[in-house]
Parts: sequence; C-alpha cells; structure tokens
Amino acid sequence: MLKKDRLIGDLIYSWSHLVRSMSDKKKFRVLSGIQPTGGLHLGNYFGMMSRMLEYQNKSDLFCCIVNYHALTTIQDKNVLKNNTINAAIDFLALGMDPDKSTFWVQSDIPQVSELTWLLSNLTSIGLMERSTSYKDKIDKGLTPHMGLFSYPILMAADILLYGSDIVPVGKDQKQHLEITRDIAIRFNNIYEEILVVPEPDIEEETMLVPGVDGQKMSKSYGNTIPIFADDGELKKIVMSIVTDSAGIDEPKDKNTPLYKLYSLFLNNEEKKILNDRYDTPGLRYGDIKKELLERIINHFSPYKEKREHLLNNLDDVYQALEKGRVKANVVANEYIDKIRKAMGIAY
Ligand code: ADP
Ligand code: TRP
Repeated sequence: MLKKDRLIGDLIYSWSHLVRSMSDKKKFRVLSGIQPTGGLHLGNYFGMMSRMLEYQNKSDLFCCIVNYHALTTIQDKNVLKNNTINAAIDFLALGMDPDKSTFWVQSDIPQVSELTWLLSNLTSIGLMERSTSYKDKIDKGLTPHMGLFSYPILMAADILLYGSDIVPVGKDQKQHLEITRDIAIRFNNIYEEILVVPEPDIEEETMLVPGVDGQKMSKSYGNTIPIFADDGELKKIVMSIVTDSAGIDEPKDKNTPLYKLYSLFLNNEEKKILNDRYDTPGLRYGDIKKELLERIINHFSPYKEKREHLLNNLDDVYQALEKGRVKANVVANEYIDKIRKAMGIAY
C-alpha cells in the first residue's frame, strides 16, 4: 500500500468516524489478540476466536494479530510473515468481517510500542517477576530476554491503547489481564482518568481446552488439533488422543481429553447423552474418536472454501487488513495523544 493512499484512507476514515461517533450510542468495546506463532488450533478457536466472532454483532469488536509478541519466540522473518498472513486468512475465513469489526496487524500501529515504553515507567519489576507465563517460558528452555520479560506490558498497551472494555481470552491470560488492570489503575491515579480498566472475559467451559496428551492445548507443546488440517492428518491426530486402559465394560472417566474435546462440539442435550454413554458398559474409545473426527470435519468444512479463496486472492486479505489499520489508527491516535499530554511528553 502506498503511503499517499494510506494517508487519504486515514483522512476519509477520521472524518466518517467523527460523524458516526457523534450519532452512535456508545457500544462496549471488545478486544483480543492472537500470536501468529503457527497453525491455529481448537484451543485458540474455542478459547478466543469463536467467542470474538460471536461478539462481532453485539459490540465494537477489535481483533489484532500480535506479531510484535510473536517476535519474542520467532526469529525467522519468513516464518513470521507467513504465519501472520495465515492467521489473518484463518480469521477471515471463519467470519471476521473487516467492515463490521476492526481487524489489523499489531505492528501496523506502531503507537503501541510507544505506549509500551510509556507504561514501562509505571510497571514495577516485582509485578513482572511474578508473571507465571514468563517463568513457564524460561522453564521450557527459552532464552530469557527483555522482550519475553516485558511481554505483559506490550499486551497491556494493546488493550489500553484502544480503550477496551472487555477482553475475551483463555485462562492462561488471566494474570496478564490483572497486570493490565494494575497498570491502568496506577496510570489513572498518577496522571488523569484516561485509561479504561478492562474486564477479562474467561468462559468456564472453554478456558482450558486440552491437547491430545491431556496438557493444555498449545502450539508450543506440539499437542494441538489444527482447525484447518486436511482430513487425513486430522484423523491421525484425533486417533492419537490419549485414553486410559479401562475395559470395555467398565464405566469411563470423564475428566479426560477425549471427553472434554468431544463435549465442545455438543449442545446440552447431546452432552447428557455422552455423559450417560460414558457411564454405560460397552463404550469403545475408538467409536468416540471417530464421532469426534466427524464433528470436527463438519464444523470447519463450511469455512474451507472461503479459506481456499483467500489463499488464492491475497490482495483481498491485504485490503481487509488495511481497512483495519485505518480504523485502529484513529482510535490509537485519540488515546496516545491524551496519554502523551497527561504525562508531559507533548508540549
Ligand atoms: P498458544 O498457547 O497455542 O501459543 P496463544 O497464546 O496464541 O496460543 O493464544 C491465543 C488465544 O487462545 C488466547 O486468548 C489464549 O488464551 C487462547 N488459548 C490458547 N490455547 C488455549 C487452550 N488450550 N484453551 C483455551 N484457550 C486457549
Ligand atoms: N498474550 C496473548 C496470548 O498469548 C496475546 C495477546 C497480545 C492479547 N495482546 C493481547 C490477548 C491483547 C488479548 C488482548 O494469547
């Protein structure tokens, strides 16, 4: 996109945004982000993506692909670029609508890195040292660096730069939201009441989707069920879900990955039936795996055609992200200007 076109886009949008915001009732703003660190999986889908898509019709939805965050673990430029565009394609295929929502790539709004610096001066080292996700990453063998350490401040900047009211995430992000709230409250106390103190939106049933090995499903544990794998690959993965050695006529344990994963695709009535089947002799795990496989394939197949189309028409994807950049830029500028003034940076 040429700089001149970007400028014209920004101007036209700023004007229409002003006119609209004068006539609109204020809708609550929902924001979340996803790292482009690899193929998106059922944990991402149920923990965050599907809930974001539900919010699309009832809120002012902001969703970003957080490539600055992914820099903390990816150092191959082509991998990062491909992952970023693939995450955008997956989200758009699943129904993210760039006209209804604001959908952009984090680094397209560099004000977020400025805000990270400004907020760093309000964030105590002790608060950062208590971050369990930092400790987990170091325990997993990642080299400690400042990017990893200050990751939660960048996330706070993402949320606070856009005045977000609600942040839908999985359970692993709960502490990051607490850190964000702490920073916002501190800023408002020291300077002016400018920052919105956000509420996390964590859903009991989907907050911790298990992977095929029973641990939290995560790209970094290699235990994921990708949402857009081909049927053959998916079959292999689903068949590898760990099960116990209970005999066919014994009642089966429900606190297991297979049961929890299958439940994600069922309505209440179907959940009751599954529950009874687990208590009744004769249940074979192999049958449940086949049924789960069918559910996954049926659930995601309607989106595959759109995804294929986008993969072959990347300009549509770039255009969607450019729309998002323009919209996000207006809100980011509103907040960063106020913040700079409040802190004595603008003069
Ligand atoms: P990953 O752990 O695979 O790298 P991300 O950190 O990119 O996933 O997570 C993106 C979003 O998906 C976050 O809101 C996160 O809480 C959610 N999420 C990731 N894994 C799970 C899971 N297993 N269960 C529930 N939500 C999850
Ligand atoms: N840290 C989040 C994760 O790993 C991703 C993220 C970055 C995010 N910025 C955000 C989530 C803002 C919600 C809001 O999943």
